[in-house]
Amino acid sequence: MLKVAVTKGKVERDFNKLLKKSEFNIDEIENKDRKLLIKTKDDLEMCFLKPVDVIKFVDRGIVDIGIVGKDTMDELDSLNYKELLDLDIGKCYFALAGYPEFKNKKIKVVATKYPKIAIKYFEERNEKVKIIKMEGSVELGAVIGMADAIVDIVETGSTLKANGLVVLDKICDVSTRLITNNKSFENKNNEIINVVNKLKI
Ligand code: PRP
Repeated sequence: MLKVAVTKGKVERDFNKLLKKSEFNIDEIENKDRKLLIKTKDDLEMCFLKPVDVIKFVDRGIVDIGIVGKDTMDELDSLNYKELLDLDIGKCYFALAGYPEFKNKKIKVVATKYPKIAIKYFEERNEKVKIIKMEGSVELGAVIGMADAIVDIVETGSTLKANGLVVLDKICDVSTRLITNNKSFENKNNEIINVVNKLKI
């Protein structure tokens, strides 16, 4: 039995499609309703969590495998986990975004859900900025005038567009990854490799 933590929401929906395509039986997942822990016919015990908790559960060995975005991994890179596979789903990118007039202006205040990414980006450019951490609706930080720009993930670009914002700079690509911890990888190596190989096809 492999324990798998999946990021709830969009990642979960894309991952379900991938499981189905890879010939896993997802009947229990499709019928789970509000249940947060289920067992599948392929002997997977799956739980559904917010992204930060997926990584914490892998790090602490509570689960063997985590399905989570590279964006959250980059923010929590000090924890103990290792990436086994880029699942090629949940594709988006980190961007610096703001009103078009900030294209050639010095940015002093940045709102973001990803302070580590934002600090690294500005440090690499030797620029000092004030970071304001938000938990969501990050675009509002710029729209309401609290920040000059935001560092956030962009997928379709529709949230930026709807709020009159543009990409000022593309930072890096993001996608959903499969992660594990050393103990599980050692103790359940065959089972984990089987799942990875099946998902690769
Ligand atoms: C994410 C991200 C952007 C939006 C980008 O937010 O933070 O706001 O999606 O997607 P788009 O380019 O397709 O418009 P999410 O929906 O996760 O909600 P949040 O605002 O609570 O972070």
